[in-house]
Amino acid sequence: MEPGVGAGGLIRDPDESRRASALFDYHERSKHRLDRYAPGPGGLDWANQPDPFRRFAGAQTVKLPFAADRLATRYNAIRRGELPAVHAFDLTGIAILFEISLGLSAWKAFGSTRWSLRCNPSSGNLHPTEGYLVCPPLPGLSAGVYHYVSRDHALERRAAIDDPSWNGAFGDLGIVVGLTSIYWREAWKYGMRAWRYCQHDCGHAIAAVSYAAAALGWQTRMLSSVADELVAAVLGIDRETDFSLAERETADTLLWIGVGASHPELDRIKDSLRNATWFGRADRLSAEHVQWPDIDSIHRATHKPVTIGRDTTNATPMPPPGDPPLDLPFATLARQRRSAVDFDGETHIGEERFYAMLETLLPRENTPPWNALDSSPSIHVALLVHRVSGLDAGLYMLLREGAALSDLRQSLRLEWLWEKRGPGHLPLYLLLPYELREIAKLICCHQNIAADSCFALGMLAPVERSFDEPWRYRRMFWECGMLGHALYLEAEAAGVRSTGIGCFFDDEMHDLLGIADHRWQSLYHFTTGGPRDDPRLSTLPPYQFLP
Ligand SMILES: Cc1cc2nc3c(=O)[nH]c(=O)nc-3n(C[C@H](O)[C@H](O)[C@H](O)COP(=O)(O)O)c2cc1C
Repeated sequence: MEPGVGAGGLIRDPDESRRASALFDYHERSKHRLDRYAPGPGGLDWANQPDPFRRFAGAQTVKLPFAADRLATRYNAIRRGELPAVHAFDLTGIAILFEISLGLSAWKAFGSTRWSLRCNPSSGNLHPTEGYLVCPPLPGLSAGVYHYVSRDHALERRAAIDDPSWNGAFGDLGIVVGLTSIYWREAWKYGMRAWRYCQHDCGHAIAAVSYAAAALGWQTRMLSSVADELVAAVLGIDRETDFSLAERETADTLLWIGVGASHPELDRIKDSLRNATWFGRADRLSAEHVQWPDIDSIHRATHKPVTIGRDTTNATPMPPPGDPPLDLPFATLARQRRSAVDFDGETHIGEERFYAMLETLLPRENTPPWNALDSSPSIHVALLVHRVSGLDAGLYMLLREGAALSDLRQSLRLEWLWEKRGPGHLPLYLLLPYELREIAKLICCHQNIAADSCFALGMLAPVERSFDEPWRYRRMFWECGMLGHALYLEAEAAGVRSTGIGCFFDDEMHDLLGIADHRWQSLYHFTTGGPRDDPRLSTLPPYQFLP
């Protein structure tokens, strides 16, 4: 389908057509190709490396307690959708939520250089995602809008509210977590393709919040009908004077974190904010910037308007996924999650373990991270299996929704076998029994981690569908990031390790699968295997440098 032609072969109106074309152009121009990487800065300008931690000068700081180690919830329970008794919505609960979702997980040191890692991963460890809290008065915390500073495990109070109608807008029990992106942090290193990585990172952050909330007995729902303007207004990132020379943040999403079926009334929250007192001015992260017009263009094209109604979800009831070998407290697992930098090229995982990991990628009611989404899965997974005992090496397809089968069969190479493998309820199909390590490495920008793993994979999204509603293109990347996050945690609980792969040659993957158009495109890659650590690096606790 051409971007200028919409559903049913109808010519789009000029504005729709412009936005669909901008999306198409960005998607194509930001592809890495075998003979040419997507346009980047050409070198790293260390003098202008963006600060990974934003502060709002002049905002009051609320130090959060370190309480996550007291949380008994185990990962094995929440991955089955068994949430603990509801933790109070108080300062301690909020502190735990941020500590094990967006908080620091460790410091790494090499010689005299040290850098921090977080519970949420990020392409190049650049962390474009900023986290916010919007809350009614809670025990230990006043009503308001807060910005989370992961380096200090603290909240900065951006807005104070003294309006009784604000409190009623939060339903029975719940808070809102907001996410924004600072594109420049990724663009500094990755140039045009950086926008994609910001979206992946946002997906990882959504999932990280959803798991942490579940560990507290809280459900997470994305407030997906709202427009970007409302997200920006609620979080205060549309306040020109507070950002004068600082890098702007773009609105990603608002997550409702609560219990029961109640929902916040966002328009009421927005109205109350008219009477709020705002504090703080965003600091500047780099002295100089490089403009990436393609990023501005895709940002405009994928603007989210108000949308009405929820998509339908059909999470079919399924038996719980098999338990992983390690039975860890969730807080421990969230902090020990790491990206592998090298695999041993030997470790095999058993097929039962492999199936159990894949089962957690299927949506289940009230189970993180899929409870955050109110739409059916749109992403399916093409697996390049290298070392899974009991399973032929080769190409497999995991359908996260059975209804996609006929569409994918038609869109991919007609010769594929489509032989069912694994437990009956797992829609896993063998397409080709063949050793694919070398092609996996080639597709992933020649990275050894794609070949030395137990399996690598690419996530297929129906990109063409977003030509009609370009904001959905962002959501597709978010869903990929959420899948990646589930895999990171699953690998850790299985005693192996994963790594997200944003660097891949898009059309090499499409050629392998036999994809010839934009009906399906690969948006994110991943790899899981036996990690080999770098002995030159030392690891330090996450908050040992706090005064
Ligand atoms: C969207 C995304 C893309 C990534 N792409 C790659 C990649 O192509 N190659 C790689 O070795 N690591 C990649 N990573 C891993 C990051 O480098 C890693 O998350 C970051 O250094 C932080 O380390 P941590 O995950 O251990 O916290 C990616 C991570 C994300 C979230």
